Amino acid sequence: MITLSKGNVNRNLVFLEKYSIIIQRARPASAQICRARQKGHAAMKNQTDYILLCQQLEALTEGERDTIANLANASAAFHMNLSDINWVGFYLAREGQLILGPFQGRPACVRIAFGKGVCGTAAATGETQLVANVHEFAGHIACDAASNSEIVVPIRHAGKLVALLDIDSPSFGRFTQDDREGLERCAALLGEACDWAVGGAAAFRRPATDPAAEKP
Ligand code: SME
Repeated sequence: MITLSKGNVNRNLVFLEKYSIIIQRARPASAQICRARQKGHAAMKNQTDYILLCQQLEALTEGERDTIANLANASAAFHMNLSDINWVGFYLAREGQLILGPFQGRPACVRIAFGKGVCGTAAATGETQLVANVHEFAGHIACDAASNSEIVVPIRHAGKLVALLDIDSPSFGRFTQDDREGLERCAALLGEACDWAVGGAAAFRRPATDPAAEKP
């Protein structure tokens, strides 16, 4: 969506203006949440405005269907909007396994088999995994020793599993049913917003029109 070519400058300015309007709209809600945090309202401590987050994801993906670009910006949006997390990103369902996609946080394991760990369980069952204590989850894969709770949400396109949204927190019991519902709405939006068949290894092959690609 954001390119530096001359022809796209106007389009990018419109995009940035629209995105900054959405960020500005966040201020009243954020101020309300900050006040609640100062007063020590436990239930509000990590509350996320999922209506706003979905609006941001819509703005970030509008007019762009490249999976890697959209997931890269989406991981940044999740990182900006969710407090008390130490990793957020995506695993792509490819070739019968999960492969690391765009993320924010420490380097993570690259490939996960279906059925292994929290992510593999979400992929195998097709169900969101809300884990209050990862140390009690049999087979949990520890990518960051700081993680104590985790939520993994399947992303589907045309009814088929295409990726997972994975979020880790250093706090036990960080994720609530509100988070589950909000993140499932975000996952549904992203499932529709990307061309999942495009990208991956195929994107790095030389085009057939390149004469060098014809040579054995
Ligand atoms: N904990 C995950 C592995 C991925 S990292 O958290 C980024 C799991 O058990 O599947």
